[in-house]
Amino acid sequence: MTKRIAILGSTGSIGTNALKVIDALGAEYKVIALTAHNNAELLAEQVRKFKPKIAVITNPEKLNTLKKLLGPVKTEIYGGDKGLSIAASSEDVDIVIAAVVGAAGLEAILSAAKAGKILAIANKEPLVIAGELLTKIAKQSGAKILPVDSEHSAVFQAMQSGNADEVNRIILTASGGPFRGATAEQIQNATIEQALAHPTWNMGKKITIDSATMMNKALEIIEAKWLFDVPVEKIEVLVHPESIVHSMVEFVDGSIIAQMSEPDMCLPIQYALTFPKRVKGIANRLRLEEIGSLTFEKPDMEVFKALKIGYEVSKTGGTAAAVFNAANEAAVKEFLEGKIKFVNIVEIIEYCLAKHKVKTEATLEELILADNWARNEAKEWLMSKTV
Ligand SMILES: NC(=O)c1ccc[n+]([C@@H]2O[C@H](COP(=O)([O-])OP(=O)(O)OC[C@H]3O[C@@H](n4cnc5c(N)ncnc54)[C@H](OP(=O)(O)O)[C@@H]3O)[C@@H](O)[C@H]2O)c1
Repeated sequence: MTKRIAILGSTGSIGTNALKVIDALGAEYKVIALTAHNNAELLAEQVRKFKPKIAVITNPEKLNTLKKLLGPVKTEIYGGDKGLSIAASSEDVDIVIAAVVGAAGLEAILSAAKAGKILAIANKEPLVIAGELLTKIAKQSGAKILPVDSEHSAVFQAMQSGNADEVNRIILTASGGPFRGATAEQIQNATIEQALAHPTWNMGKKITIDSATMMNKALEIIEAKWLFDVPVEKIEVLVHPESIVHSMVEFVDGSIIAQMSEPDMCLPIQYALTFPKRVKGIANRLRLEEIGSLTFEKPDMEVFKALKIGYEVSKTGGTAAAVFNAANEAAVKEFLEGKIKFVNIVEIIEYCLAKHKVKTEATLEELILADNWARNEAKEWLMSKTV
């Protein structure tokens, strides 16, 4: 049976890999919708190649450029954020690959969940912000959420070895990023270049900075809690610099099931698309004899404070995770623009969380309010330092 796919964020690192995977999977997998934010040129190229029914450019200023680049085509072209939800909930779509960056994908993911789609989620931020709401909507509509994040895909694959009530703990692995083993003093003034030099994964800039602060792992703890309905006390993090074991599940009998492969996002993307089947695909093959040894160590939560805060936020629930995520997004943007120091990213997060009054069982409106509030507070923090 044909699987009809929408890719939200088709011009990004996950999006372009998803298109490679789909191309290799053959005619059974059909691209129905593609979306980008700024990159009209690449989107136009993708539209010419995959001939989707829908193309969306969310930055409205780029709509004319996209239309000019494409000329007369059968593809329906939309501009602005609403286009994301149109693509995500189209009747012609079975699977939505959520691969936009940050909170931007939230409403589209919720509309895909309401429409009962299969949601292949790489975009972890919406799950972090609105995990409770999203999983509730998915239960009601029958939408299926499948992880694309490599760690969560690994957990999901390991989970196939037992029942949910037999899980003792989830062990998320972390590469440790470019600053593994560094002291707090050593990374205080880390440059953008140093923070972007990820040792094992080639990803978008935002997630690469999140790996350097280990914020990425903090977000993944919250993501795992919602995806697998497991209390945060049962989720552990181990630093594994080789990035070969993508995560593990320990069952009640003491068996630990790990998923291993080369660090290549094509594999988790493909698994989400073909699940429950496995097919050959294009992912690189792992030769363990070439790796030699695998190492694991406990993360230093005093140096990588974001991780420690992530556990606290996870336990607090409500709007806390929305603030945690938004403050980080705002801070990472400032860091990448050279306006703040590396160490300030976590300071901004702490500042926003300390000022925030948490609302439990929050509605979508309340979550969005908390997100906007935190972004403003992050700006306030910056202004207070520059006046
Ligand atoms: N990269 C990885 O290996 C990896 C692994 C695990 C999880 N993830 C998660 O997957 C998501 C995507 O990561 P990525 O590395 O692929 O990011 P990326 O390379 O920066 O790509 C982001 C995509 O989202 C679009 N986009 C950017 N801002 C947008 C906005 N405001 N509204 C709508 N679309 C927007 C971009 O369009 P333009 O190109 O036009 O700007 C691009 O298509 C993130 O949540 C990340 O945490 C990524």
